[in-house]
Formats: sequence, C-alpha cells, structure tokens
Amino acid sequence: PAATGFVNAPNRDFSQTAERERLAQAIEDVRAKLGQERPPIVGGRAIAPREWLESRNPADPAQVLGRWGVATIADADQAVAAAQKAWPQWRRTPVAERAGMLDRAADLMEARRSELTALIILEAGKPWPEADADVSEAVDFCRFYAAEMRRIDAPVLTQRVAGERNTTTWTARGVGVAIAPWNFPLAILTGLTVAPLVGGNAVIMKPAEQTTLIAGVCYDILREAGVPAEVLHFLPGRGEEIGAHLVAHPQISFVAFTGSRAVGTAIWEAAGRTLPGQTQLKKVVCEMGGKNALIIDDDADLDEAIPGALYSAFGFSGQKCSALSRLIVLDGIYDTFVERFVAACGSLQIGDPTDPGTLVGPVIDEEAQRKIRGCIDTGRGEARLAYQGTAPAHGWFIGPTVFTEVRPDHRIAQDEVFGPVVAILRARDLDEAIAWANGTDYALTAGLFSRRPSALRRAAAELEAGNIYLNRAITGAIVERQPFGGYRMSGGGTKAGGRGYLENFLVPRLVSENV
Ligand code: NAD
Ligand code: ALA
Repeated sequence: PAATGFVNAPNRDFSQTAERERLAQAIEDVRAKLGQERPPIVGGRAIAPREWLESRNPADPAQVLGRWGVATIADADQAVAAAQKAWPQWRRTPVAERAGMLDRAADLMEARRSELTALIILEAGKPWPEADADVSEAVDFCRFYAAEMRRIDAPVLTQRVAGERNTTTWTARGVGVAIAPWNFPLAILTGLTVAPLVGGNAVIMKPAEQTTLIAGVCYDILREAGVPAEVLHFLPGRGEEIGAHLVAHPQISFVAFTGSRAVGTAIWEAAGRTLPGQTQLKKVVCEMGGKNALIIDDDADLDEAIPGALYSAFGFSGQKCSALSRLIVLDGIYDTFVERFVAACGSLQIGDPTDPGTLVGPVIDEEAQRKIRGCIDTGRGEARLAYQGTAPAHGWFIGPTVFTEVRPDHRIAQDEVFGPVVAILRARDLDEAIAWANGTDYALTAGLFSRRPSALRRAAAELEAGNIYLNRAITGAIVERQPFGGYRMSGGGTKAGGRGYLENFLVPRLVSENV
C-alpha cells in the first residue's frame, strides 16, 4: 500500500532510570493536585451540574481523585442544538486545517505524556507500560486519522471516458456521539472522537463514568489544539440516561460506540428506530467484547507460548476486549503446558499499579469485582480451580485465576469475564481445537502457537476472529499495523486504526460532469 507518512509513537522505555524517575515524579505531581472538578461543557461553557460524582482510585477506593458533574438530558439537547448549528461551517473548513488540529493534539499529548500516564494509572488502575501504551495509541489515532483524511480528501476518478468526468468525494454525516469504555480511557475515547471530527462532523463526547477525569484532559487537549467549542462538547454522565437519550435523538447522525455486548446491541436496535423529525439513517460503529482463544499445538515452543499466554490473559487484569480467556491445549502437550503455566502464574506481581513492577493491578470498581467473583464461583461449580493468586484485601483486586478440566460448553468457556480469569481446555487435535475456538458468539482475537507451517496456515484461514495472532501474544494491536476490531457479537466489522475506518463517519458523493 502507498505510504501515508504516518509513524507510530514510541512507548517509554521504563528500563531506563530517567524514564522511571520521570513517571514516578508525575504520579506524585498528579497526587499533589487531586480534587479537580470536571463539569459538563457545552459550546465551550462549563455547565453548573445538579449532581457531582466522585472518581476514586480502584487500588485505594478511599482516595478520591476528583469530582465530575453529571450531565442531564437538557444539557444533551443543548449540545446537539449547538453542534447542529456549527457543523456545516466545520465541514467547509479545509481538511488541511482539521487534520492539522489532530496533529497538534498528538503533539500536546506527547508533551503531557507523563501526566496523562500517571492519571491513567491512578484513575483506571493500569500498570505502567500499559498506561504508557494507552497514551501512544491515542497519539497514533490522532496522527493516523489526520494522515488518512488527507489521503482520502482528493476526488477519485471512477472511470476514464471521453467527454465526461466522474469523480467521488467524501463528506461529513453531521452530528454524532462518541460513547467510550473505561478500559482504554484515553486511546479509545480519542479514536472515537477524532475520527469523525477530522471528517467534518461535530462530536459529543460521552466518556465512561469510571474514567471521566482522563476524558476531561482529552477534551482540553483537543480544544487547545484548535477544535472549535461548538463542534466538540463534553458530556460526562450516566450511560443509560444521556447515552441512551443521545443515541435515540432524531438529530444524531452517527454513534461511535465501544463497550459491552449488552449496551452495544441495545444501541444498535435503538439507532435503527426512525423517529419523527429524523432526516437521515443513523450509522452505528459498534465494537464490543470477546471470548478470545489461544491454541497451543503439540510442538509449540513453550518458552514463547507461556509468557505470551500469561501476558495476554493477565495483563491489566484481563480487562481488555482482546484478553485471552480460553487456552485450548492439544492433548500431547497438555500436562506439560498446564504444569508450567500454573507455575508461571506464581511469578505474576499483583498489587498497586503505581509500583512499576505490577502486572496485575485492581479491577475497575466494586461492581466489576463482584461480577468477576460471580464468574469464578460459576467456574468452581463447572471445572477445577487450578490456581488462584493472592490479591491485596484493600482495593478492587482479584487474584489471577486458572480453571482446568473446562468443557467448551461451560459458562466459563462461553461468557466474557473481563477479569484475570482463564479457562484451559484439552483438545484431541487441531480440528477439535479450531472448532472449539470458533464455538462462541464472539469473533474478536484468537491465536495459535505452533512450529508447523501447515497448522499456522490453517489457523490463519479458519479461526473466526477479527485479529488473528500467530506465535505471539493476542493483545496489543498497533495503529495502522494491526487494524483492530471483530465481527459476530464482537462488533460490526469496523477496524479502528485501519484504512477505511474514517469512511464510517462520511458519506460518498459522485459528481458526473459533461466536459
Ligand atoms: P459498557 O458497555 O458498560 O459502557 C460503555 C459506554 O456505554 C460507557 O460510556 C457507558 O456510560 C455507556 N452506556 C451504558 N449504558 C448505555 C446506554 N443504555 N446507552 C448508551 N450508552 C450507554 O462497557 P465498559 O464496561 O465501559 O467496557 C467494557 C466492555 O467494552 C467489555 O465488554 C469490552 O470487551 C468492551 N470493549 C471492546 C473493545 C473493542 O474494541 N471491541 C475495546 C474496549 C472494550
Ligand atoms: N486494541 C487493544 C488490543 O489490541 C484492545 O489489545
């Protein structure tokens, strides 16, 4: 493919003392300034909220990080009205200017990388390298979508014929809402917001309740980068209230959503209803959960497979849509693999994510902890609990948990847990392993460790997943390199960070001119 000129932002190297000291200092600086308030912002003006909610540190829930104002339905209506007025002018703003704003936002994020990383560690409970990678991904989304918009801006000739010039171009859809999850609190919110913005749409940001403070900084950065107040609105609030209201609003043209299956499918349905006053069909970009499988072949290199599986299952406490949830191990290597995998679980550092060595921090909140504990109880009733790590008693921690003797139809092998829990299944051969890997409602990530080229080719051809990884971990997609997103009940087949993504927020127009 033609080069876009886009280059991925490098992550920080925390093996360097100076980098470690820089982030440790940033964590101290953010702690020293706790207590900030984040009201909703419509048209650049802060709204005095009727209700404030607290954002707390999941590793230490007694620690209040700040407060955020809950937007109301009236605030949402005001934001839609303001955005409706503003977007035609924004659409006429040259692409060079809009894309330039995204590049500036990326530069500002880089300049504030340590502060952003520290806030992600404290508010989302992410370990250091993954909080840092969250910032890199946000920077990448800004720069990549800017480059993509410049690339697709030129009219494209459809066919060369004498006497007629036929070209297609893209134009904005209108006003939309970006509804984001908490688990990539900067990256996913940024991606869902800047992709439609750079195309000339107005966007209402609806961040996840749990990570509203980070979202507030994201809003500030985009505004500082030049995005006009009337085309970007910040509406923290309850998903089932303003989220649902915005999705159903007749003047909303698109919904950019990433989150759970339950909410995603409800949004898909609600957006399909045509209401009085509605003048266009709503476009929904819907990325949801997974039940991701990794197959371990008889001849797999376990020195590679075990760290790959450990990191995929337990990195950020398994709270990634891409996280490994089912290990399908071939019979010939099963006993050796399980013994070594379970032993390796004992090496995982569990604890406060402000400690640079932590791999397994807290889960996001008490509700998540309760839900994951419920899944573990279900697993105990179905399979054998082979390992459970000890977790700190204070904070929303869950020790890494491994079940063996799992059958493919067990609930622990079918339902998304979204926590540090992995189910191990023993498969007779590769046919059975692939059939089991494909035997859920989801199709997000999947992988195989094998030394056999024929097995690797089969996995590439037969695994049902949007992102298939061979002889490597199954999480950590990089913008442009590994466009990310699933199908079936994992999503609508859109690829965040990939070519073609921006077109979701645009409509094509054909101009045919007699020349
Ligand atoms: P969630 O669905 O609970 O919330 C996501 C967002 O939807 C939040 O902003 C929330 O306020 C809002 N919301 C809630 N109810 C709503 C409603 N009725 N109408 C409109 N908006 C509503 O998800 P979460 O707990 O924040 O995130 C975890 C889930 O996200 C997991 O299932 C995970 O697999 C998935 N996820 C998927 C991807 C992907 O790219 N496929 C990436 C990250 C997370
Ligand atoms: N894009 C994230 C990953 O690949 C979810 O892990």
